[in-house]
Amino acid sequence: MNFSHKVQAMELSPIRKFVPYADAARAAGKKVYGLNIGQPDIKTPEAFFQAVRGFDEDVLAYANSQGVAELLDALAGYYKRLGLDFERKDLLITNGGSEAINMLMTAILNEGDEVIMAEPFYTNYKTFVGQAGGKVVAIPTTAEDGYQYAVKEKIEKVISDRTRAICIINPGNPTGKVLTRDEMKLIVDIALAHDLFIIADEVYREFVYDGKEMTTFGSFKEAAQNIVIVDSVSKRFSACGARVGSIASKNEELMLHLLKLAQARLCCPTIDQIGAAALYRLDPSYFNDIKKEYEHRRNVSVEALNEIEGIKYGVPEGAFYITCQLPVDDAEKFLMFLLTEFDVDGRTCMFAPAGGFFSTPGVGKADIRIAYVLNAEDMRAGINIIKEGIKAYNSRK
Ligand SMILES: Cc1ncc(COP(=O)(O)O)c(C=O)c1O
Repeated sequence: MNFSHKVQAMELSPIRKFVPYADAARAAGKKVYGLNIGQPDIKTPEAFFQAVRGFDEDVLAYANSQGVAELLDALAGYYKRLGLDFERKDLLITNGGSEAINMLMTAILNEGDEVIMAEPFYTNYKTFVGQAGGKVVAIPTTAEDGYQYAVKEKIEKVISDRTRAICIINPGNPTGKVLTRDEMKLIVDIALAHDLFIIADEVYREFVYDGKEMTTFGSFKEAAQNIVIVDSVSKRFSACGARVGSIASKNEELMLHLLKLAQARLCCPTIDQIGAAALYRLDPSYFNDIKKEYEHRRNVSVEALNEIEGIKYGVPEGAFYITCQLPVDDAEKFLMFLLTEFDVDGRTCMFAPAGGFFSTPGVGKADIRIAYVLNAEDMRAGINIIKEGIKAYNSRK
């Protein structure tokens, strides 16, 4: 059988690829702290389930390709509270933020076109860009430089005549970097000067810490034709299984092209959209406690990481991930060791090896991404296992 060059060039997600080994460890009776995936343990708001229980149609029919009207209106209302005037016509509901990114790449890239992203980046972008025939071009950043990419020279250095978009994950996954308004403005000006899309993936918008300001690219009206906002209920409302994301843009031509893709995949799940509408109607005060809880988990995780000798990482300012460089030769091998050979009193730990979050060859081999999605006690316990595991791994003959 033949397979496409495109699919052969893709990789399994480093976030999920080791799950079978974690499952085997669990089946063997071990407790495995799952710090690999951005799956929060925060309860999904009751409003979601109530709305779903209230569904009383006789037929579970296809929804509108653009999204159910109730959700489009609730989403528009959510944006309005942020000071953004997206109307129904500016919105498209997608199967998670994942499909939103996937559709956008299909809509804007031709074979060989380039998309700029700060590295490390959310690994699945490589798959989405590759599927559309494009290429991710990285702006390298490090913990030492505070994962700073909003620098004119750094960005302009990687722009070519094939560049179509700058993708910004803000707050960042996997670094937790949060842009200031001035930094966003700089990116907006570059996009305008070079006629590029800004794909603003803001699925972690509310999760900013240390009193930092919550921002959105949607507020830069001067670049309304360039800016596309990706959102999702997954992290925002701890509803990853709902698979409801969205695209918002004032660019009518883009929205029309996207609708062709949306119509071809018919619709997103009807009932999940009804639940998601209830989530987007929640009062913004919902986020106060959630934000506090993540900030606490961040602080506890950082404290625990500080106990690991030789580790390098930057303290995240938002989202719920920490990228760390471990004092090991190879993060994948180390993870396999933790899952198959190591435990502390029957407990071990799973994280995402972060090599796949880089596109620069050879970079990130010793890096891992930790998601601080578990309660503080479990975060401390999981990171302590990494610490003990490093000692055992490095002292093997
Ligand atoms: C930055 C970013 N964008 C998009 C997604 C996609 O999430 P979903 O498809 O669940 O909305 C994720 C998931 O981890 C993410 O971290």
